[in-house]
Amino acid sequence: RNYKMWQTDSWRNFTAKHIPDYPDQEHLSEVEKTLGNFPPLVFAGEVRSLKQSLADVAEGNGFLLQGGDCAESFSEFHADNIRDTFRVILQMAVILTSGANLPVVKLGRMAGQFAKPRSSKTETINGVELPSYTGDIINDINFDPDKRQPNPERMLKAYSQAASTLNLLRAFADGGYADLRHVNSWNMGFVKSGPQGERYRHLAHQIQESLNFMEALGINSTNTPQLRRVHYYTSHEALLLPYEEALTRVDSTSGDVYNTSAHFVWIGDRTRFKDSAHVEFCRGIKNPIGIKCGPSLDPDELMALLDILNPKNEAGRITLIARFGHDKVETYLPKLIRKVKSEGRTVVWSCDPMHGNTIKSSNGIKTRPFDRIIDEVKQNIQIHKSENSRIGGIHLEMTGQNVTECTGGLDHISEADLTDRYRTHCDPRLNANQAIELAFLIADELKTNGH
Ligand code: PEP
Ligand code: CO
Repeated sequence: RNYKMWQTDSWRNFTAKHIPDYPDQEHLSEVEKTLGNFPPLVFAGEVRSLKQSLADVAEGNGFLLQGGDCAESFSEFHADNIRDTFRVILQMAVILTSGANLPVVKLGRMAGQFAKPRSSKTETINGVELPSYTGDIINDINFDPDKRQPNPERMLKAYSQAASTLNLLRAFADGGYADLRHVNSWNMGFVKSGPQGERYRHLAHQIQESLNFMEALGINSTNTPQLRRVHYYTSHEALLLPYEEALTRVDSTSGDVYNTSAHFVWIGDRTRFKDSAHVEFCRGIKNPIGIKCGPSLDPDELMALLDILNPKNEAGRITLIARFGHDKVETYLPKLIRKVKSEGRTVVWSCDPMHGNTIKSSNGIKTRPFDRIIDEVKQNIQIHKSENSRIGGIHLEMTGQNVTECTGGLDHISEADLTDRYRTHCDPRLNANQAIELAFLIADELKTNGH
């Protein structure tokens, strides 16, 4: 293979897994052409700012908070859902900032997180076998032969949903909603009365006092934009390459190529193998790239991936997202950290405590016990400490809604509670209370064991 000649479509000469076989190729080409004429969703300048912030994180001057749905869906698309997730991420960022004493880079798994790799190509119910559901951008979750066919038209709907989601996020981030003076008002909905509400109110009160002090010195949100707005970035797994390719453009100011579907994209644990079309695609775009690191990734393979994806070892280019499972992290993470250190590679080390901790509850529902999630995060922080390395971030599947998808937490969600409000289209997410509880635990852990 010729690794020199990258083009937006050179991935097509590589091994492509988890991309659907569209029955109607002509329809696919039409949609690709249409998408290719649509405006970019993000600007290259924003992507460069994120990369700079991630370079700061890699150097120990920041912490990355990445979170959102496992799979965004057409049916759950609503301003309230976007607002609530955004709000919880802001709350978590405030909690983490106070714990780590570092700026927090806020990166949503939002505005494009639609395509899912599945362990099985098909699903069989009562003897009927149909293609698995692979995300709303590809097919329909309903178990129906027509609806489960991959339909390229869905990419246009996903683009439009991503565009309106991003529009609202930009308005929230810039338009006054994120003003630090309003830190109290983010403590709303079911979180307010929950066990975390009191602790958050206490923190918010301390922040108000600091703001009053600064105001007396003449520093306020009118003259200091940092107090009035936040930088909020978007990300998703770069899985459905026909969609990603169509939104990949040359930036006129730098002449570089950017994937304009999101600020940050990552390569999943199932598609990060050598010779993978997904690796080839990501090689040529200038966006910061995440790589999911699961138990099957050996240290030499990781070096080969870094050679391809970050040959100049640029800070901020690569985020390694460790997702081993609470019972495996101790076996696999240290050797990757040692290799990265001994080879002098600059990366952000993030921890995804979700994907290695999925189990089936006794009633047959996919869930994640909160205790195991906590356990993996704590081990991550401690392993980095003992390897003289540094945890740079966290990657979560979460929502601002009061769902019952992961068991445990201070609300003691039990296996029997799971059916109450189980709404995810794919993997179980932390609800807002669990997400905030986790943020407090990480903040405490970073205070005692981090950095
Ligand atoms: C995901 O992040 O939703 C995902 C599928 O993760 P992984 O590639 O780590 O399994
Ligand atoms: Co998931």
